[in-house]
Amino acid sequence: MKDQAESLRRRLEARQNQTMARTIAILSGKGGVGKSNFSLNFSIALSKREKRVLLFDMDIGMGNIDILIGEHSPFSIIDFFENGRSLEEIITIGPGNISIITGGTGLMKLFSFDEVKYTRFNEAFCSLLANYDYILFDMGAGITHDSMKFLLCVDELFLITTPEPTSITDAYSAMKYIHSIKKEIPCFLVCNRVFSSKEGKETISRLQNAFMKFLDLDSVALGYVPDDRTVSRAVSKQVPFLLFDSKAEVSQAIMYIATRYANHSFGEDLALPKSNFLQNMKRYFLGK
Ligand SMILES: Nc1ncnc2c1ncn2[C@@H]1O[C@H](COP(=O)(O)OP(=O)(O)OP(=O)(O)O)[C@@H](O)[C@H]1O
Ligand SMILES: [Mg+2]
Repeated sequence: MKDQAESLRRRLEARQNQTMARTIAILSGKGGVGKSNFSLNFSIALSKREKRVLLFDMDIGMGNIDILIGEHSPFSIIDFFENGRSLEEIITIGPGNISIITGGTGLMKLFSFDEVKYTRFNEAFCSLLANYDYILFDMGAGITHDSMKFLLCVDELFLITTPEPTSITDAYSAMKYIHSIKKEIPCFLVCNRVFSSKEGKETISRLQNAFMKFLDLDSVALGYVPDDRTVSRAVSKQVPFLLFDSKAEVSQAIMYIATRYANHSFGEDLALPKSNFLQNMKRYFLGK
């Protein structure tokens, strides 16, 4: 009897200690600021740090990630919803050993959940949450009514901007919109395409100050990434820049950001609340 109780207690403890993946949406206000390149290379950088990473391409239409890695995924999320494939079956193993799911046009299906679809997705996604450390969603540019629901579900947001004023104001507007619906999503800021560290720091601090002053929102400076010709060279070769040239300035910057992020060393005492992705899905997609 005692042995049985002991074993049950151990199993319960193991279940409680089982780490669930953190879900992260990579978004921007303005398009073309570098979300897909950041998502792909940041995922590979985390994988190099021994983390299990799944990258979900949420761009409706042409798969951005497929193009960046020069491979066409045989399946997309549509094969899960319409052709009875499991989520595991539609995963492609990409460069740097990251897992990739292509959304493509199937995303419209993802955004129109009914109870039956939700239940199937819930069960399948549960096992992904248990099998990965991070699940990243590379979002399309801007925020639509549907992508907004999705943004409300994830554990945290990575907001990407460049130092250009239009990119900064669009980033601010995107966050203002999200914040008007949900106040407590942690927000990490990345400034891409900087010409100096000063420019990166100033851009991020401008956004942080505006968030604090007008939205009373605390955000975290995740880091800045230099403008580097390596990116366009790697994109032309359809190889992630981190693997194309690991010594390039841009690659070193991504490795640095990923290491800081994975080690939770942001220089601030940041408590990261963990939300429940699947419960959020039920709430925002089914209204329950
Ligand atoms: N750090 C960088 N240095 C130089 N060029 C960059 C950098 N980051 C991105 N780029 C350039 O910007 C282009 C767009 O990048 P990317 O496709 O990642 O943007 P995106 O935000 O995902 O775009 P979309 O909003 O259309 O999804 C790249 O092809 C590359 O040429
Ligand atoms: Mg993109």
